[in-house]
Amino acid sequence: MASNVSFSLLFLCFSFVHFPLFSSQSTHSFPKEALPTKYGYLPITPTSTSAIFYAFYEAQNSTLPLSQTPLLIWLQGGPGCSSMIGNFYELGPWRVTQSLTLQRNPGSWNRIFGLLFLDSPIGSGFSVFSTPEEIPKDQNAVAKHLFAAITKFVQLDPVFKHRPIYITGESYSGKYVPAIGYYILEKNANLEASERVNLAGVAIGDGLTDPENQVATHAVNAYYTGLINERQKNELEKAQLEVVGLIQMGNWSEATDARGKVLEMLQNMTGLATLYDYTRNAPYEEDLVERFLNIAEVKKALGVNESFVYETCSDVVGAALHADVMKSVKHMVEYLVRRSRVLLYQGEYDLMDGVVQTEVWVKTMKWEGIVEFLNAERKIWKVNGELAGYVQNWKSLTNVVVLGAGHLLPTDQSLNSQAMIEDWVLRRGLFQNLPEANVSSKSIFAE
Ligand SMILES: *[C@@H]1O[C@H](CO)[C@@H](O)[C@H](O)[C@H]1NC(C)=O
Ligand SMILES: *[C@@H]1O[C@H](CO)[C@@H](O)[C@H](O)[C@H]1NC(C)=O
Ligand SMILES: *[C@@H]1O[C@H](CO)[C@@H](O)[C@H](O)[C@H]1NC(C)=O
Ligand SMILES: *[C@@H]1O[C@H](CO)[C@@H](O)[C@H](O)[C@H]1NC(C)=O
Ligand SMILES: *[C@@H]1O[C@H](CO)[C@@H](O)[C@H](O)[C@H]1NC(C)=O
Repeated sequence: MASNVSFSLLFLCFSFVHFPLFSSQSTHSFPKEALPTKYGYLPITPTSTSAIFYAFYEAQNSTLPLSQTPLLIWLQGGPGCSSMIGNFYELGPWRVTQSLTLQRNPGSWNRIFGLLFLDSPIGSGFSVFSTPEEIPKDQNAVAKHLFAAITKFVQLDPVFKHRPIYITGESYSGKYVPAIGYYILEKNANLEASERVNLAGVAIGDGLTDPENQVATHAVNAYYTGLINERQKNELEKAQLEVVGLIQMGNWSEATDARGKVLEMLQNMTGLATLYDYTRNAPYEEDLVERFLNIAEVKKALGVNESFVYETCSDVVGAALHADVMKSVKHMVEYLVRRSRVLLYQGEYDLMDGVVQTEVWVKTMKWEGIVEFLNAERKIWKVNGELAGYVQNWKSLTNVVVLGAGHLLPTDQSLNSQAMIEDWVLRRGLFQNLPEANVSSKSIFAE
């Protein structure tokens, strides 16, 4: 138990739990009401100073007692990008504006759920590492650190103890989300009931999960979208096959580089502002987050060392996980779909990890329900009477296509993304995961 003592001490040093001290320090740049409910550092081992930065926003208006209100955890992709992008540019309660101020986001995911952003792995965002060797090089190491951080977070307040936890994330988090979900379920099996992490489901937005299948789809996707011609399609397909070959030989690092080349070719052929959204005439502006979080008073408000240089994405973490990028975690999704709930969602305009890149690996899943899932009706999804996208589900697996959105889907469709996550978590509307409902006999064409 000696390690527990050193652990607690370490934890105290790293914890900035919204002490009144900070209220007096909030500034014009960071209004007091925009401060997270809790924020600071969660240690990941008792023996090092490595720690994961977190920002937690309690539900604004939960319809349940707080002790039963679901907790969402958000993980950014990269590898090495900071969840503060999600927080201040996508789905958090306050978004950074062009003039580097904060503005309320009516589509925040913390309207009726607690929302926890974790800068993971260590070295990303505000998270710190004691030695570069401690930065994870594979998904198991990422998950181990996350498990420690989540466990520590839940212990911060008794009100967190029994709340259902949903792990969510985007892009390369299509790797992290299954990895931590899988790790939790494996770990829970050997823990006392009181020590288990109360995992209720996982959600992946525009994710990279099964790269070998996914990388092979860019050419046809762009071709049938009208963005490239047949000769370009053939050229791109050749480059894609090279990536697949490298994956099959286990040349992981080379495979990651070769995928980068495929995407660069597609970029060069199309001249798009960004492959993240083929309708945009300018890239997403997540650099606003970097500029905002490097303001000294903002760092002070968040309890971060003012000499810390914040980057939206860390090259050091990117390099540590470079050889991991093309490794599949599909088997972990197969494990999770049998024991938990899985939501996949994509923005229709994303050419990186979009609709086609998701369908292609989902249909290869080894799961008893896959045939029923693939044959299930793709239902028209409306929010407040307006077309919002399409929902397809069978039992524990749900796939959503969100219209009018690219890769950073909650940025583009804030309110619809909120409606989606709320309805999926609460199993409302089209998200009830029931076997296909009986088709109404009434013609939809009748007046
Ligand atoms: C909070 O929830 C109540 C009950 O559903 C609702 O009437 C009210 O408008 C909500 N307030 C906000 C700020 O969302
Ligand atoms: C694949 O890896 C092997 C062993 O590391 C190496 O000898 C070979 O050159 C690599 N092939 C390519 C195409 O990178
Ligand atoms: C893309 O275009 C740039 C600029 O012309 C060029 O330097 C680069 O080599 C091209 N990349 C690929 C993969 O063709
Ligand atoms: C902040 O970081 C600097 C440079 O790494 C370090 O010298 C200083 O001790 C840190 N301050 C605190 C309060 O941790
Ligand atoms: C669907 O139809 C079947 C056969 O008519 C019936 O047994 C079942 O209860 C119906 N299910 C629902 C949800 O209405």
